[in-house]
Amino acid sequence: MAKTNYKEALENPIFNTISQSSIALGIDSYVIGGFVRDFLLKRGTAKDIDVVAVGSGIALAKKVASELKGNPQVSVFKNFGTAMIKKGALELEFVGARIESYNRGSRKPVVEDGTLEDDQKRRDFTINAMALSLNEENFGTLLDPFDGLGDLDKKLIRTPLEPGITYSDDPLRMMRAIRFATQLNFGIQLASLQAIHSHKERIKIISNERIVDELHKILASPKPSIGFTLLHKTGLLPYILPELVALEGIEEIEGQKHKDNFWHTLEVVDNICETTDNLWLRWAALLHDIGKAPTKRFHKQNGWTFHGHEFVGSKMVYKLFKRLRMPLNDKMKFVQKMVLMSSRPIVLSEDFVTDSAVRRLVFDAGVYVDDLMTLCEADITTKNPRKQKKYKNNFKQVREKIMEVEERDHIRNFQPPISGEEIMTTFQLKPSREIGIIKEAIKEAILEGEIPNEYEAAKTYMLKKGQELGLSIDVQ
Ligand code: CTP
Repeated sequence: MAKTNYKEALENPIFNTISQSSIALGIDSYVIGGFVRDFLLKRGTAKDIDVVAVGSGIALAKKVASELKGNPQVSVFKNFGTAMIKKGALELEFVGARIESYNRGSRKPVVEDGTLEDDQKRRDFTINAMALSLNEENFGTLLDPFDGLGDLDKKLIRTPLEPGITYSDDPLRMMRAIRFATQLNFGIQLASLQAIHSHKERIKIISNERIVDELHKILASPKPSIGFTLLHKTGLLPYILPELVALEGIEEIEGQKHKDNFWHTLEVVDNICETTDNLWLRWAALLHDIGKAPTKRFHKQNGWTFHGHEFVGSKMVYKLFKRLRMPLNDKMKFVQKMVLMSSRPIVLSEDFVTDSAVRRLVFDAGVYVDDLMTLCEADITTKNPRKQKKYKNNFKQVREKIMEVEERDHIRNFQPPISGEEIMTTFQLKPSREIGIIKEAIKEAILEGEIPNEYEAAKTYMLKKGQELGLSIDVQ
């Protein structure tokens, strides 16, 4: 017989406090949702604990807080009938069991009190609807009316109710289904996939912030292509990231084809996830080719070209972040920079790698040069093992050269060795064009390797350049 009691999940004394508080109020209470799911999946103990009270969740939260050391504050969300307590790293969320139905056109629920099972029914997935009793008579007993345990075993995302009801109640769940499938490497029941497909347009009522939250979680997973493939197949992707959808397809003219940049992109994203956890670098991988759709051309002599796609793509990054209400801050600028520079190391590695080309790359990429190399390495998706090896080896050489040049020239955090001030005093200049010309000439001489990145050499060069410009030196 399957195990039915999981007391060992409730060893944290907080559960005893909740149990005793429920007894004092004469109500039943249960832990439900992610905490139970993650315990059964052995994913470690979740920090968010959701508690359902068959009665007032707010009253239970207040009672629990009064029993805890330091009487932590209770945040009450009256409209939703929920209350939250923060205790150390733990976040406890209390809600009264309810029968819930939603207004079409909004996510605002109409709420009525209900039993535990009513509450479980209205949850998103069977694996999130499992509850553990906190009641004295059966403390730790699993209450699982929709066989979430079986679905954990089958690795299946399934809704407790008919999927159409669950998804139209809260269309965010369409994204959640895909996100859980990606995080857990689970399948989604066929009826659910069909329901997502039919309700896809309802994603429009979900705020961009929530959608982006799910996208972040998909991208933070070990293999994000699972999620993006599902978003694509269910028809949700055009509502969220149409720029990616535009990359799909292979065109052929006069026997010449280009690669399918949508599926290529997903491969690049999976590749980069093997080498970095940096969420924004993962975003850069996802968006690195978006400029290819609007710049695609066919030329009789050259075949398919995507001239300037990096520049166009980096401009698109701004628009995309703005549309999705993502932060327009240094993270966005980082993604833009990666997209803009995404072909630079490739061009470099195709030729003989000169020091000055490497110095220019390091100068332009600055502290992000390693991230850029990681992106370019992930971009190698050729199935030809000989080419694969060659490209990897070329990038290895570029990396070595970067280290070598950097050790010598310190370009990564480039600070002009001669300041504008010094140029002004040396030549007794007021703010003028000449200062910029001299500064630029010094920088160019360093990048070209004509002079080392050092003060004395730069000063001599400045004097020479000033003479060429006909400037006189202040001799005092
Ligand atoms: N839930 C739901 N529908 C939603 C959001 C949440 O039914 N749109 C329910 C699920 O039972 C879920 C619980 O509320 O388990 C808590 O939601 P949340 O904290 O968002 O997710 P977790 O399941 O805890 O998972 P994660 O922390 O990974 O997001």
